[in-house]
Amino acid sequence: MTDSSLSRREFTSATLQSLLTLAFLETLSAGDAFAAEIQPIAAQWLKDLDELGRDVKGEAISQLAWQKKVEELFAKIELSELMTFLDFDKLSKMELRSRGERSMRPVFPKVEGLPTELVFGHQVFGLKQGTSVVPHGHDNMCTAFLILEGEFRGRLYDRLEDDEESMILKPTVDETFKVGQASTISEKKDNVHWFKANSDRGFIFNIHVLNLHAGKTGRVYVDPNGKQIGDGKIRARKIKSSEAYKLYG
Ligand SMILES: [Fe+2]
Repeated sequence: MTDSSLSRREFTSATLQSLLTLAFLETLSAGDAFAAEIQPIAAQWLKDLDELGRDVKGEAISQLAWQKKVEELFAKIELSELMTFLDFDKLSKMELRSRGERSMRPVFPKVEGLPTELVFGHQVFGLKQGTSVVPHGHDNMCTAFLILEGEFRGRLYDRLEDDEESMILKPTVDETFKVGQASTISEKKDNVHWFKANSDRGFIFNIHVLNLHAGKTGRVYVDPNGKQIGDGKIRARKIKSSEAYKLYG
């Protein structure tokens, strides 16, 4: 988690003020005061995330700056508002898998001020206790997690080097992630992650910015229980997704 200058409450208050006019207009048009109060806040938040995504793709900001700013934004959103926006009540009733995550892609409600084409993809992962978002690195991507429900053991690793068969990893984070905690990934820092659900069930909100530059983009599965090669580094085999889910799902 990154410290930020505004607390969640302050951010919500500031955003509410700036969006008061919009909320009022929406109340008049939609006749739904509850939705009008909530949705502009989450919509503005998504708009800010969209701008950051465009900036990192255009290299207007560095990948490290994207990570810092996204963690700040993730610290500010009122989770109940985001969960309303995601229709979390419905998502949380979906059946979960015996291995690995169930990926769900809720459609955001149409709200004035929210771009219709967001530069980032989003999903919600649902996991049963003991199952994992299995260890994987990312090619040509920035991505972020925000815990919505439950508790996870979250491990992150710097991806120092690559060859055909393996990655050289250095563990950076191994801690319990609770509701509201965030983590981010880029090519520059903490490129590999592994999240195992400790609680009965757990849910994670994920965003991902693909194709930061030319070249292939996506996940690369690894086995972080590799050979220790000194200085805390691990030689981790690149593996197929089927092996990753069999070993760690
Ligand atoms: Fe990932």
